[in-house]
Amino acid sequence: MSGANVISHPLVQHKLTIMRDKGTSTQGFRRLLREISTLLCYEVTRDLPLVRQTIETPLAEMQAPMLAGKKLVFASVLRAGNGLLEGMLELVPSARVAHIGLYRDPETLHPVEYYFKAPDDLNERLVIVVDPMLATANSAIAAVHKIKERGANNIRFLCLLAAPEGVAKFNENHPDVPIFTAAIDEKLNEKGYIVPGLGDAGDRMYGTK
Ligand code: PRP
Ligand code: URA
Repeated sequence: MSGANVISHPLVQHKLTIMRDKGTSTQGFRRLLREISTLLCYEVTRDLPLVRQTIETPLAEMQAPMLAGKKLVFASVLRAGNGLLEGMLELVPSARVAHIGLYRDPETLHPVEYYFKAPDDLNERLVIVVDPMLATANSAIAAVHKIKERGANNIRFLCLLAAPEGVAKFNENHPDVPIFTAAIDEKLNEKGYIVPGLGDAGDRMYGTK
């Protein structure tokens, strides 16, 4: 698939607007990111396969739907990915978690890897890689490469905001990995920031600069 799935739910769009506003506090930004991530999680898992399982209600036996297959893996691209991870785990508490430590070198805009830990049976699970921002896509491309190297073959990428340049580059590098995002903005600026965007997601989450 090419392009990206845009999650246009009114609550998502409303919360995203408040997050973009530079007047929103660190505390408010973090709370909104957690809230919005549950809504994004709902959409990115919308088509998961179900199987029928026999259960007994207090009144009768029935064949009831349950998620098929092994537990999901949420792979958080540190550090801003953790803001999405929290809310997603509220909705899918049984999910396994991978951490991919990457930061973007501000000069080269290339990712620098510093940590990786994931469940070892990624080849048997759906892996949802999460990072709020898809700008040049260098970080997301590297994160997905890493997950694939460890055997994953059923992957989705979830972000909050994407740049058109990042969507195109990610699609070229990982045509098998669908992107889910709340919005595709206008462009990248000369420093590789998404415009109009929301600024630096990690800094806004954690009050750093
Ligand atoms: C941000 C963001 C992505 C990356 C996106 O992380 O969370 O990981 O930049 O940019 P790209 O698409 O151009 O690679 P950052 O490197 O600022 O690290 P942080 O999450 O630790 O703040
Ligand atoms: N990373 C961010 O946090 N924001 C951007 O706009 C680009 C990369």
